[in-house]
Amino acid sequence: MAKRVGFATRLGAIAAAVGSAVGLGNIWRFPFEAGQNGGGAFILVYIGCIIVMGIPVILSEFIIGRSTHSNMKAALRKLSPGKPYYLFSYICILGSFVVIGFYSVVCGWIIEYLYQAALGNLSGHTPQEYSDMFSALVANPWRCVGWTVLFLVINFMVMSRGIAKGIERVASIMMPLLFVILLIFCVKSLLMPGAGEGLRFLFYPDFSELTWRGVLDAFGQAFLSLSIGISCLVTYSSYFKDNSSLTKDAATVAALDTLVAILSGVMIFPAVFSFGVEPTAGPRLIFEVLPGIFQQMTGGYVWALLFFLLVFFASLTSTISLSEIPITFMIEEHKTSRMVAILWTAMFTLVLAVLAALSFNVLDDVKVFGKSIFDAMDYSASNIFMLLGGLFTAVYVGWILDRKVIRDQLSNNGRLKGAMEPYLIFCLRYVAPVSILFIFLYLSGIL
Ligand code: PFF
Repeated sequence: MAKRVGFATRLGAIAAAVGSAVGLGNIWRFPFEAGQNGGGAFILVYIGCIIVMGIPVILSEFIIGRSTHSNMKAALRKLSPGKPYYLFSYICILGSFVVIGFYSVVCGWIIEYLYQAALGNLSGHTPQEYSDMFSALVANPWRCVGWTVLFLVINFMVMSRGIAKGIERVASIMMPLLFVILLIFCVKSLLMPGAGEGLRFLFYPDFSELTWRGVLDAFGQAFLSLSIGISCLVTYSSYFKDNSSLTKDAATVAALDTLVAILSGVMIFPAVFSFGVEPTAGPRLIFEVLPGIFQQMTGGYVWALLFFLLVFFASLTSTISLSEIPITFMIEEHKTSRMVAILWTAMFTLVLAVLAALSFNVLDDVKVFGKSIFDAMDYSASNIFMLLGGLFTAVYVGWILDRKVIRDQLSNNGRLKGAMEPYLIFCLRYVAPVSILFIFLYLSGIL
């Protein structure tokens, strides 16, 4: 078999993992989820979830990936020979297609906004006009599908360049830039009239607004945002070198990802209140609110362009990580070339993405469990696939995996302290499974 070529540098590997984690989940989804679920109360549950479940599950995925240097299926076979755990890898593959299916539709909208920003069409409108602009976009099947397809073409072009030259390079350039721009937008938003009210909304924990469904959403959001539960980080860490500290890397990914999510809230909510937009507006929030901020900024044209360019790159670094899951799987399990694996992955993704794009217009009366195709994919991705995947990963590493593998990976075969082990095992064995099961039982009406 051909030699596995991984990330070239440690920093590049972290940039890629952070690139996977930081994406639409942080900039587009987190603010509206927080907006709909009681602001600060949602954030508190979210942060708790990152600490007791997010970091332990990231670390578990890193342990599985780096100890085997294989895709999820081969990894589970190597770690538990003769046992059926490897079957779970098929659910991961399915989950990765569902995520990328709805995700690339939003990426398509981002490209449309990038295009409109380049034409200078994003300024000089009233809030109602921004809202109408977005409604017109999603109602138009050609535009939605066209942009989505263009996005996927770009995505798979990056994939064709491979791990180090494609994924690593794109992530290492775009991630630092994203942070800088985000900070500038936060400062700008904080200087707007009404900023105080926005911050209070974002950080004041109003528990009366938080339902159990909201708690489930916070869990699902944490898993989606950290890219855990569908073996994405198993795949990436299978390309890691053996000398980095997995504990530090996991904490870095989680911390930076959470920082970007909260900063995105800080960027958006003061502006929401300043413009008098409903903070609970949902998925359309960034498309209706941000253009309004840009037009008030000096050089708004450039800022709008830059912003959508960066959201585009943030999403691209996430979709490339999502597509790497089936690609690595096919290369290793079906012995295909990278190009063939890319073509198959692109084809499946395209079908799902087009269905999701059409669910706002041509297929808007098609319902899956009472939801539109897009909403069903979005909901099942984070609240079912990733949460159940997280549950499996926690139980597998906490209860089943040989403790020596865990110890060796945490301590790099005795060269580091590996002090996280007791905390990790406690969270994986008890906290994560009990909380996830509790939420599921509660929502299904059993409790
Ligand atoms: N973490 C990404 C985001 O927050 O946008 C989405 C994502 C990427 C989910 C990769 C899952 C995944 F495997």
